[in-house]
Amino acid sequence: MAKPIEIAQVTYAVPDLGLMETFMTDFGLTCVSKNDDVLYMRGSGEQHHIHVTHREEKQRFIGASIEVSSREDLEQLAEMDGSSAVQETGEPGGGYQVVMTMPDGFEIKAIWGREKLSETTERKAFHFNNADSKPRLNECIRVKRKPCQAIKLGHFVLHVSNHDASVKWLEERFDLLHSDYFVPPGEEGPVVGTFLRFNHGAEKVDHHAILILQSDWVGVHHCSFEVIDLDAVMTAHDYLVEKGYQLECGVGRHMLGSQIFDYWKDPFGFRVEHYTDGDMLDQHAQPVKFNGTATETTQWGMAPGLEFFQ
Ligand SMILES: [Fe+2]
Repeated sequence: MAKPIEIAQVTYAVPDLGLMETFMTDFGLTCVSKNDDVLYMRGSGEQHHIHVTHREEKQRFIGASIEVSSREDLEQLAEMDGSSAVQETGEPGGGYQVVMTMPDGFEIKAIWGREKLSETTERKAFHFNNADSKPRLNECIRVKRKPCQAIKLGHFVLHVSNHDASVKWLEERFDLLHSDYFVPPGEEGPVVGTFLRFNHGAEKVDHHAILILQSDWVGVHHCSFEVIDLDAVMTAHDYLVEKGYQLECGVGRHMLGSQIFDYWKDPFGFRVEHYTDGDMLDQHAQPVKFNGTATETTQWGMAPGLEFFQ
């Protein structure tokens, strides 16, 4: 079983790469490489690229890449049913990959050895002067309405036709822990959604890297990028409103994972999220079953509409 390090990238196909590049730039990513057929966008973190778009007539979500800890991880994964051999990625930044296919056809790549870039994050998070702790002294907050920097890809969410089979498939290949579950409102079961985090033992990791949701509709629900702090979420929100992009819901605070979220639609209707202040967990955190209603998944702020849950 491979040790997952980070969600390295999500990969889409759309008919117009220029349109995607303009939106993703406004959303806070930077083009690191492009040609007529593929667009590679980076965040301000070290990953060479985190959002990739291929030019195809019919738009679709292709899949995601997960960085693993070693070449041996790749070799182990290559032994599994349906895996490719270990091969070069063929993408900018190089490195090696094993290509696998999840139930429902999502392409999941394990990658290792890709070049890392220097971080370009422009500022540290502002200290927040809470009532009981005021660390910001002789220092003002001054921010502009402009694209915030997407630092890293935090998670992606899939709608699948068989929840249990998809979770099992991922767990057979990657060392994951369950963070929380969705069960139908008011019921004890069955589990219809599982938040999965990377198992890094005593080290803290994000509440989830992957969320698997049972659904009649198969496809990507969203991918999500971490930004530096609340001011980044809010100034980016204002900027995206000014640019006339399609807000889906935000700003608000999730229940499961506690992130402050802001969801937008890219020009092709794919949902993308900015987030900050998510829960961090280590190996000791135990999952709970959440059986509240859809509106109870938001603690404050703009709650998602019905379409969000379909
Ligand atoms: Fe999310």
